[in-house]
Amino acid sequence: MTPQFTLPHWYDLHTHFRQDETLPATVKDHVSMQCAGALAMPNTAPPVGKVFEADEVSSYKSIEQYRSEILAASGGVFKEVIVPLYLTQDTTPEMIEKGAAAGVLKACKYYPPHGTTGAEFGAPLDRFMENGVFRALEQAGVTLCIHGEEHGLGPERYFDRAENAEEIFYRDRMPRLVDSFPDLRIVGEHLTTKVGVDFILEAPSHVKANITPQHLMYTVGSLLNGLKYHLYCLPLVKYDEDRAALRAAATATNNTKFFAGTDSAPHTKKTTPCGCAAGCYTGGIAPQLYAQAFEMAGIDLSQKAGQDILENFLCTIGREYYDLPMPEQTFILERSAEDVQPLKIGDQTIIPLPLGMECELPWRIRR
Ligand code: DOR
Ligand code: ZN
Repeated sequence: MTPQFTLPHWYDLHTHFRQDETLPATVKDHVSMQCAGALAMPNTAPPVGKVFEADEVSSYKSIEQYRSEILAASGGVFKEVIVPLYLTQDTTPEMIEKGAAAGVLKACKYYPPHGTTGAEFGAPLDRFMENGVFRALEQAGVTLCIHGEEHGLGPERYFDRAENAEEIFYRDRMPRLVDSFPDLRIVGEHLTTKVGVDFILEAPSHVKANITPQHLMYTVGSLLNGLKYHLYCLPLVKYDEDRAALRAAATATNNTKFFAGTDSAPHTKKTTPCGCAAGCYTGGIAPQLYAQAFEMAGIDLSQKAGQDILENFLCTIGREYYDLPMPEQTFILERSAEDVQPLKIGDQTIIPLPLGMECELPWRIRR
């Protein structure tokens, strides 16, 4: 018999939907991979830089508005959608207090200025350490989602054998942040390094992290050998020892800190005349990829013990951290090749990661 097992519906706690014509199709892909909801990042155009539609800063999208668009696109399937507020030069402690008191603001997102796709509205971390914004988050119990890479580095420090932007951030910035705001709820987004994993493991229990499928599966050699640009995302995939640390963290039987967040990022144009857009698209296929990654990490998914480890990572830790409703529905993963197809939206195409890597996906969702 084909190995198979049942999982509850789950929440993708780091994903990207945009604000253009790709939104309905990408939300649908999340529904098709049995998501009960998502945390949808605010680095859209325009950025989600205000909480309420009525707020003055008119060039920004509001959390209220974007969240309801995503909920509507899910056709009533999503139980909950969290949209973090984009921390910009216009963010004030008062916005945090008001948004949290109204129950609309659950999280904020820090982007290193110009550090990734849509990060040009970010402001340096020190600004929020000093201007009362982080203090307001801490007091209101609002989660700080951190893109943990140091910004503005020269090439030798950005990515090298000795250090890289994420390691520098987790070595120099995160300890100060946690010390200064000991009760601040923090999520290290899309963790990629052993330095990051070690930091999260030692931090207080309200400091957690999510991990993408691609960072569990690949190393920088996979990206460079053939310049597989569909694997180009930020933070970059790293070295084998980093991947080993991520795998150990995600698959530990006593894992209480590391959870699923795909960072699925739809790009209809990956290559540009002088570069490449950062982001891997894993909509529709993330549980399958996580299952494959867990097997690569040595987890036996034919056994209940292994299945429980995956369920803890995919369905439980993040949901409980964000206090999201437990979905009643379940789905079945079975060990049989998934039919992965490009996502067509009008005359535009989004290539899911396995097609870009020219590889098969050995797990599928039973339909
Ligand atoms: O690779 C990435 N793509 N990293 C991010 O932080 C943003 C994302 C996107 O929005 O495309
Ligand atoms: Zn992201």
